[in-house]
Amino acid sequence: MVRKTLIAGNWKMNGLLEDGVALAKGVALEVKKAARKDCEFLICPPFTLLMSAKKAIKGSKTMLGAQDCHFDAKGAHTGDVSPQMLKDIGCQYVILGHSERRTDHGETNELIAKKAKSAIEAGLKVIICIGETEKERDEGKTINVCTTQIMGSVPENSTAQNTVIAYEPVWAIGTGKTPTANEVEEVHAAIRKVVSKKLGRANANKMRILYGGSMKPSNAKELLALPDVDGGLIGGASLKVADFIAISEACRQ
Ligand code: 13P
Repeated sequence: MVRKTLIAGNWKMNGLLEDGVALAKGVALEVKKAARKDCEFLICPPFTLLMSAKKAIKGSKTMLGAQDCHFDAKGAHTGDVSPQMLKDIGCQYVILGHSERRTDHGETNELIAKKAKSAIEAGLKVIICIGETEKERDEGKTINVCTTQIMGSVPENSTAQNTVIAYEPVWAIGTGKTPTANEVEEVHAAIRKVVSKKLGRANANKMRILYGGSMKPSNAKELLALPDVDGGLIGGASLKVADFIAISEACRQ
């Protein structure tokens, strides 16, 4: 079973025009040089940079994604962006249900599933984020929390082709802390089982499950070597070309 590694950068709310374009160009150049066949690269800049990032990565195999979308195709939703709009300007992916959106905007599993369903219908691939808080981990609820989030936020039209799951322990995001490799593998294997229950074994075997949360060049090798870890969703380290590319260098099949 070969699942192609996905190295995805979530830029979050970072980047003005000049540095955003420079970052996208820098990534594109390195991706071109690396000419990897075993690995895919994705950058997810903020909405304001999508168009210029798209131009900056043209001709390299770097893919473009957004960090959120609405579930409707158009209409009276001030401040929102639809999946059709993202598709229209060349996005292939959209991140949904990131813990920062769950916290900052009160997004529920139900809402995330609705957004994911629409995004898939619009022809986008979705990266659905899940993960426990520190308190939940301390209370031994990690697998339960992740199970509930998958059952609730992965829509019925998800398949291994159109959906990626990102396991991001909330307490590991931007903190420099990570679970041990054993702990990460335990959760990823459990996630695959839940996906199997929800979408069938064939989808579960082929679906990519990314790890996210303080992934950096120094820990990427150990994390990306785990059997059920199929790539990374990288925040802080995706804002530096050298770190982002070094993470991808840590996994060569
Ligand atoms: P950091 O890599 O900055 O911890 O962020 C991870 C993340 O939230 C990616 O979506």
